[in-house]
Amino acid sequence: MSEENLYNHLLELRQQIQEHNYRYHVLDSPIISDAEYDQLLVELRAIEEEHPEWITPDSPSQRVGGYVSEKFEKVSHPAPILSLANAFDGEGILAWLDRIGKIDPKVFDVDFVVEPKLDGLTVVLHYQNGLFIRGATRGDGEIGEDITANLRTVNSLPLRIPVSNDEINVPESLVVRGEVFINLNDFEELNKRQEEAGEKIYQTPRNTAAGALRNLDSSITAARPLRLYTYAIVSSSEEIPSTQMGCLMFLRDLGFPVTDQIAHCNSIEEVVNVCESWIEKRDTLPFEIDGMVVKINDLILAESLGTVGKDPRGAIAYKFPAKEVSTTLLDIGVNVGRTGVLTPYAILKPVEVGGVIVRQATLHNFDFIEEKDIRISDRVLIKRAGDVIPYVVGPILDARDGSEKRYMIPSICPACAEPVSRIEGEVAIYCVNPGCPAQIIRNIEHFVSRSTLDIVGLGIKIVEQLVEENFVHDVADLYSLKKDDLLSLEGFAEKKADNLLSAIEASKSQTLSKFIFALGIHGVGEVVGADLANHYKSMEDLMHATIDELEQIEGIGPNIAQATVDWFSHPANQLVLEKLKKAGMWPVLQENLINANRPTPLAGKIFVVTGTLEGFTRTGVKEFITQMGGRVTSSVSANTDFLVAGENAGSKLKKAEELGVTILSEAELREMAGNGS
Ligand code: IVH
Repeated sequence: MSEENLYNHLLELRQQIQEHNYRYHVLDSPIISDAEYDQLLVELRAIEEEHPEWITPDSPSQRVGGYVSEKFEKVSHPAPILSLANAFDGEGILAWLDRIGKIDPKVFDVDFVVEPKLDGLTVVLHYQNGLFIRGATRGDGEIGEDITANLRTVNSLPLRIPVSNDEINVPESLVVRGEVFINLNDFEELNKRQEEAGEKIYQTPRNTAAGALRNLDSSITAARPLRLYTYAIVSSSEEIPSTQMGCLMFLRDLGFPVTDQIAHCNSIEEVVNVCESWIEKRDTLPFEIDGMVVKINDLILAESLGTVGKDPRGAIAYKFPAKEVSTTLLDIGVNVGRTGVLTPYAILKPVEVGGVIVRQATLHNFDFIEEKDIRISDRVLIKRAGDVIPYVVGPILDARDGSEKRYMIPSICPACAEPVSRIEGEVAIYCVNPGCPAQIIRNIEHFVSRSTLDIVGLGIKIVEQLVEENFVHDVADLYSLKKDDLLSLEGFAEKKADNLLSAIEASKSQTLSKFIFALGIHGVGEVVGADLANHYKSMEDLMHATIDELEQIEGIGPNIAQATVDWFSHPANQLVLEKLKKAGMWPVLQENLINANRPTPLAGKIFVVTGTLEGFTRTGVKEFITQMGGRVTSSVSANTDFLVAGENAGSKLKKAEELGVTILSEAELREMAGNGS
């Protein structure tokens, strides 16, 4: 065969394999046997082996993985990857419609789409000229992680579109949202194989899918039976259908896997019926669903309703009731948390709840044990709701035979054996020993975790060793670790020690917001951490924040404000901060550094935003004002310089008028910032 003919044959083979793959994995209706399919792949591989220069990333041979990443790069999503608000029954759905009807009464007269809520992981898939070029996790909704190599191994994911229909017009650039999950029988099969091989048993399909998607070695991902369903178009260079039904059909025509279990409903009553009917039917599906998703079919109307935080108003999740089972309470264990709080947990006779084996469950707090009179050896009711950790509902009193034993609340900390204390009026029992190793370990674990400073290679086992060996007494000590310290630990060789030291060093360039989040201040998570960073811009300013000032920041209430001030006034924390600063672990707001010379037309001005804006999301407008040098607070006071008012502005507008605060329209705000666009 001439080179040219061989090349054409290769293209034809790829086309054939792609179509058979699509028929098998998406349509579920293969027309050739597995052996014939394998034969085509063997032939393709043979040609590619001879001509490695002909291998392209969309070749079906590339689905087996093999690419090993060092770490995942960050990917900015072209539009926010939103979440969903929850309803828990039909009434919740009706209440949702009432709520959004107040914003736009048109919603009382629309049709809806009801889809299964797949219990998997969101993925964002980028296509350029029909080629799958990038895939990302949801991340924080704005920025995800690049897991392209892993996603290429998902058989039902089209590496090239269209797969089936040449007549369809494929947008030059298309970004699609979907869910990656594992079918229940595939999951069972996987665990059977693991068990036979004496390997670890996976907990749930969802966790396994999550682990597989975030594995740095894509050949491990390829070995997991991941599947995909797509359900939304995030962005497109060309016009797309203006309804959810239209989008689902469009995706299907392009060759994307789309679930069949879609209901198009003409009334909200029908929506509720469909949702309720799925409570019984959910177990007939081959995959786990934790509810249904109700979407307004008219996507333009849905979009115009805006968002509440990260939840779009135009859609809602109908969450199924939790699943319950009963089992024996073997014992009660006690965890010591980051802040010293002791929490009891139930050690259970292993039991299956919704396809998952449960061995432990939360008991909330010690009062709960007393209130419910939970005794060791009791038969207890366990509930598992969606992705929530299973919890104990209470004992089954009728099952008692007299052998049950009352539980004694611990008087000493199980980790350090120091006496515990109980604060008046509080439920929690605390270990107040600042040197308690359990607290130090939890603190460090939080400080270095993936969502905070992301110090790779510092897992819980190593943290435990470092604390137990007295190398580390607080988070700041991480920065004075020596290579010899690490080498003296079990399991450490040169390379591992070097890697860890450089990961610790690298954390010094983390953002201010992650650093604030990492400190472990009660109530200060990712979002509040970012708000504080944007507001104060430096640790020095944050350290001197007052409660009043903090409460002025949107999203920060009195509890978080108090906890923040308390945290910074604690001498032990001040000492740690001092050590961190000395070690060079002292981030400042990076935008500030990069944009030091940028004009700041809104500098020194305090803004409040109210109502719905046309060209901005709520976070968008905050970012815009902050970037232009202004500050955004949540409530109108005499200190407020400007109120930016959009559609349906309410009490804030009234208050601003009363106080004589200048009121700006969206256009006036842009003009003031010198940015009419
Ligand atoms: S729509 C604006 N549709 O549920 C669009 N989400 O609790 C919001 N999910 O993060 C999402 N199946 O990961 C949508 N058919 C479906 C879904 C679905 C599963 C997940 C998704 C989302 C989460 C929200």
